Amino acid sequence: MFAKKTLLNYDEQEETKIFMSLKIIDPEIFNLIKKEEQRQKEKLTMIPSENYASPTVREALASVFTNKYSEGEPGKRYYQGNEFVDEMEKLANTRALKVFGLSKEKWHVNCKAVSASIANLAVITALLEPGQKILSMDLTHGGHLSHGWKLSSGKPIAFSSKIFNISYYGVEKNTQVFDYDKILKLAKKEKPQLLISGGTAYARDIDYKKMATIAHAVGAYYLADVAHEAGLIAGKVLKSPFPHADVVTMSTQKTLRGPRGAIIICKNEFKEKIDRAIFPGLEGGPFDNVITAIAVCLKEAMYPAFKNYVKQIIKNAKILADELKKYGFNLISGGTDKHLILIDLRHNVRLGFKTQPNPNDLNGHDAAVLLDQAGIVCNKNTVPFETGTPFRPSGIRLGTPALTTRGMKEKEMKQIAKWIKEVLIDGRDTKEVLREVKKMTRRFMI
Ligand SMILES: Cc1ncc(COP(=O)(O)O)c(C=O)c1O
Repeated sequence: MFAKKTLLNYDEQEETKIFMSLKIIDPEIFNLIKKEEQRQKEKLTMIPSENYASPTVREALASVFTNKYSEGEPGKRYYQGNEFVDEMEKLANTRALKVFGLSKEKWHVNCKAVSASIANLAVITALLEPGQKILSMDLTHGGHLSHGWKLSSGKPIAFSSKIFNISYYGVEKNTQVFDYDKILKLAKKEKPQLLISGGTAYARDIDYKKMATIAHAVGAYYLADVAHEAGLIAGKVLKSPFPHADVVTMSTQKTLRGPRGAIIICKNEFKEKIDRAIFPGLEGGPFDNVITAIAVCLKEAMYPAFKNYVKQIIKNAKILADELKKYGFNLISGGTDKHLILIDLRHNVRLGFKTQPNPNDLNGHDAAVLLDQAGIVCNKNTVPFETGTPFRPSGIRLGTPALTTRGMKEKEMKQIAKWIKEVLIDGRDTKEVLREVKKMTRRFMI
C-alpha cells in the first residue's frame, strides 16, 4: 500500500482517500462518479460553458469550509466562528480586484452568488424597482435567460421578466453582429433604467465602451454580463468591461476555470445595495467552500500559464471556425473572436443548401445527438432569426475552453472539424468516429 501510494502524486493521494471512503459507504454514487469521469476523459467536451476545474480547485471545494454558516459580510456576521471565513473571503475579493486590475477605492467584489443567473437577478433587483424597464439581448440572438426571457407570445418565463418590463435588442440580419447606432436609437425609444450586455451564444467581442455610452446617454445603469468571457478578460485576450460598466457579473466555472459560482464586481456606490440583494435578498448562508475555490482559481488566473491558456483557447476556436467554413458550414457572424462558434445548420455554403444526411430535418437537436454518439459533446442552440423551436433549433454551439485545458492545439482542431464534417455532411458511422475520438483523447489527460 505504501509503495503504491508513493507512486501517486499529492492530488491523486487525496482523491484516493476521498474515493476510498465513498466507494465503501456509497458504491452507487461512487460508480456514477467513476462513469462520469470516464465520459469526461474519453469524449471531447465542446460545450463552451464547460471546463475542467483543476485538482486544486476541487480540493478547495471539498474542504471543511463546506461545514460553515457565515451569513453577513466579513467582520459583520450573524454567526460566530467566522474568523477564518472572513480572511478567506477577503482574500477572494482582493484577488478578484487584482485579476481584473481594479482598485478597492473604486470597486467592490461579492463572490457569494451561487450562480451567474442569481448574480444577475441580484444586480437587477438591487438597481431597479419592480416594473422598471430593462433593455437586454434577445435570447434567440444569443442573449441569456436571466436577462429577462419571455416567449414570443409575451409570456414571461425568466423570473426577472415577471417583475420587470423587458425589451430586447439583437443582431442585424445581414451581418449577424450588433449595430450600436441602432441599439442607441432603441434605447432612446425604450428609455430603460438598465441596459444589459452579454450573451451565451454571441461569438463576437462586445464594445463595452459603446454599450456604457448608450446606457448613460439614456440615464440607465449598465450591467456587463461576462459569464463566458471572464477568463479571457482576466488573461487580457479580450477587451475589458472595466471601467465602463457600473456592474459586471461573471461565472467562475467557464473560461475562468474555477468552481460553479459567480462574481459580482460593482462600483463602490452600489456596494450596499448589491450585497443586500444577495443576502438577505436572495440567499441565506453563502457556500464558503465555493468562495474558497473561487479564491484558488483567481490565484491560478494570475500565473503566466493562464495567459497562454486563454490565448490558445481563442487560437483553437479560430482554427476550428476556419476549418468548418472550409467544409461549407455556415457560421453565425462568419466566425469568432473568442472561445465559441455558432453554426446555422439550415444552410451549407459549399453544398448550396441543406446539410446532409437528412436534408429536410437535420436540426440542432439531431446534430448534437449524432455528434455526441461520435464522442463530440456540444449543444443545440437557437440562431438569430430562428425558424425552429427551442427544442429543435437550427444551430449547434461549439467551444474550445475544455479541449484547450487538455492541451489540444491547432492539429487536433483540424481533426475535430473533419470529424464534424464526416458525421454531419457525409453521414459517416458515428461508432467509427467515436473509436478515433477515444484514441485521440487518450493522449490528452485531464
Ligand atoms: C451570458 C450568461 N449569463 C449568465 C449565465 C448563467 O450562468 P449560470 O449557469 O452560472 O447561472 C450564462 C450561462 O451560460 C450565460 O451564458
